[in-house]
Amino acid sequence: MAETTQLTRIGLAGLAVMGQNLALNIAEKGFPISVYNRSTSKVDETVERAKKEGDLPVFGYHDPEAFVQSIRKPRVIIMLVKAGAPVDQTIKTLSAYLDKGDCIIDGGNEWYENTERREKAMAELGFLYLGMGVSGGEEGARNGPSMMPGGSFEAYKYIEDILLKVAAQVPDSGPCVTYIGEGGSGNFVKMVHNGIEYGDMQLIAEAYDVLKSVGKLTNEELHNCFSEWNKGELLSFLIEITADIFGIKDDKGDGYLVDKVLDKTGMKGTGKWTVQQAADLSIAAPTIASSLDARFLSGLKEERVEAAKVFKSGGFGDILSDQAVDKKKLIDDVRQALYASKICSYAQGMNLIRAKSIEKGWDLKLGELARIWKGGCIIRAAFLDRIKKAYDRNSDLANLLVDPEFANEIIDRQSAWRRVVCLAINSGISTPGMSSSLAYFDSYRRETLPANLVQAQRDYFGAHTYERVDMEGSFHTEWFKIAKQLIS
Ligand SMILES: *[C@@H]1O[C@H](CO)[C@@H](O)[C@H](O)[C@H]1NC(C)=O
Repeated sequence: MAETTQLTRIGLAGLAVMGQNLALNIAEKGFPISVYNRSTSKVDETVERAKKEGDLPVFGYHDPEAFVQSIRKPRVIIMLVKAGAPVDQTIKTLSAYLDKGDCIIDGGNEWYENTERREKAMAELGFLYLGMGVSGGEEGARNGPSMMPGGSFEAYKYIEDILLKVAAQVPDSGPCVTYIGEGGSGNFVKMVHNGIEYGDMQLIAEAYDVLKSVGKLTNEELHNCFSEWNKGELLSFLIEITADIFGIKDDKGDGYLVDKVLDKTGMKGTGKWTVQQAADLSIAAPTIASSLDARFLSGLKEERVEAAKVFKSGGFGDILSDQAVDKKKLIDDVRQALYASKICSYAQGMNLIRAKSIEKGWDLKLGELARIWKGGCIIRAAFLDRIKKAYDRNSDLANLLVDPEFANEIIDRQSAWRRVVCLAINSGISTPGMSSSLAYFDSYRRETLPANLVQAQRDYFGAHTYERVDMEGSFHTEWFKIAKQLIS
């Protein structure tokens, strides 16, 4: 067992791959770190890796008390364990040995209210607490993640030097970390980040479907198309890995691996929470919601197989027309449709964060969030710099869609966007993300919506009253009586 007479700077508990990688990253930046996990093999494995990856200052402990005692005071311990009960369990184990002023940081995808409950309970014991979203997956944790710490500002200040070095570094915009705000704001922002990630992935999948099913692009052509896209406005981690995926052959048979992957999407819950929060706060987030619905429907594989049979035997098979498509033109249209839809999706996510910030008094800085998402995380993209600039221009921007630059970009792309959605609809290819983004845009930009009729109906059957376009006040009409008089 590695022992050190000198105290370490920080501790990390929970040594699954994310935890191991983050510990090694911290050690590599010159901060001696103590590590602990209930299953001791994980501890030994981490220490072993630290040796191999350059004799990094990682010190392993099999016993929680010795682990806590090995850290310099005030102690800071990052936890990377499964959200929910395991977090409470780990806090219980560790806090038995903590002293007043020590701090625990939850680096998992925790529900923000759990973090707020724990922060309160810890404060009563004299401990500090942070809920810190960490994005970037295993690779990001090792080489530079995007981190979203929220909670005790005092605790943040104490470890800021570590976080600034450990985070992904983006030239001209700095490390991908900032103090998010009080309470559970770090977890909340990470949750919306994941919701946006759902949207991005769905939109990319729809682009793939249109190009493959209507445009008849081969995997090789798709690989080239996405590689090309990754040189322009769509430059991002998700487009890059998508290009990679289309280039990978199946090692268990013929053809490409992507064609052998079952079309059934898994999920862990942050996307669902995002949509639930959007509904709670009355924020329209149709792109993110439709990406969640798409995952639900993908899960019904057996039902879809049966439904396909029903509609095929009814003469309703593939309605893909055989008319020749101009591949080059289609690729260009789909790129524009994807980009315009993405603007809508981010607008929804940002509006959700703002609404929560107002409700909770968090005072979140939307431009700063876009900045720390520029590197390290799954949604990292050149595009985020444009979002940051939009909020720099106007921090009170009501919606990204009306930022002058984004508005121009949408105007330039809307014909292509409409062509792609129409083509998909006419071909029987569902594009829920692109279609709902377009509907979001078309609703938001219209001065007049048919909501007058809905309001009239509400007043008709429920006397809910209505406002008028031409005078102040609240009105009610005996619609039923008047209608009957008209008839008689
Ligand atoms: C230790 O490792 C196991 C998996 O090997 C995990 O279930 C557990 O939550 C880890 N964390 C802690 C703090 O013990």
